[in-house]
Amino acid sequence: MTISVLTIFPELFDGIRKAPIIRRLQEAGTLTLQLVDIKDFAGGSFRHIDDSPYGGGAGMILRFPPLLAALEHAKGMTPEIPAHTVILTPAGHPFRQADAHRLGQEEHLILICGHYEGMDARINEYAQEQISIGDYVLSGGEVPAMVLIDSITRLAEGALRKESTEDESFENGLLEYPQYTRPAVYDGKAVPEVLLSGNHEAIRRWREEQSRELTQKNRPDLWKS
Ligand code: ADE
Repeated sequence: MTISVLTIFPELFDGIRKAPIIRRLQEAGTLTLQLVDIKDFAGGSFRHIDDSPYGGGAGMILRFPPLLAALEHAKGMTPEIPAHTVILTPAGHPFRQADAHRLGQEEHLILICGHYEGMDARINEYAQEQISIGDYVLSGGEVPAMVLIDSITRLAEGALRKESTEDESFENGLLEYPQYTRPAVYDGKAVPEVLLSGNHEAIRRWREEQSRELTQKNRPDLWKS
């Protein structure tokens, strides 16, 4: 899979490039992470990366020509494979675990990070979808893009053992049950007895019950649906 990120701050991705799963997939040749600096496409007659909005208003808008040129460049990475382009914006549809699974099937995913007050809306016509990571406004699409990259790549073949992603939160519509490790008692806090019982059926039932209770308490919206 190839993931291309269009950003005006490629250096923000230095950390995630070194993340163990991303490195492992890149070394195995199953992932290519390409950073495209939108600023590199703001030359020539298009000197500025941003400009004030038509119609007036606060802030600056990322200009359309450098965005489009950067997108065409990213698409050129895999000329024979059509890319799936996503714009990160608080105005997008909410990102869910199912989206991570779905987008992980794409051979070439292009993520466009907005900045300033946003980007010229003409770029939307070149994207398949717009995604938001939550109902809050961040200063740019870089952190949201990293959220997508992390959640998608950890599901990839060879990233983690299958069992470690099968039982986790959202995979079955419920939040994951609590987990414990040694020591069995510490600072007066004991691990639930049942987990030490060796009774696999009792443990399975306890975990299921915990998942239900936690979901009802913390995510009544998930519980209802
Ligand atoms: N850019 C700024 N805020 C965002 C959000 N919540 N989701 C996606 N992109 C964003």
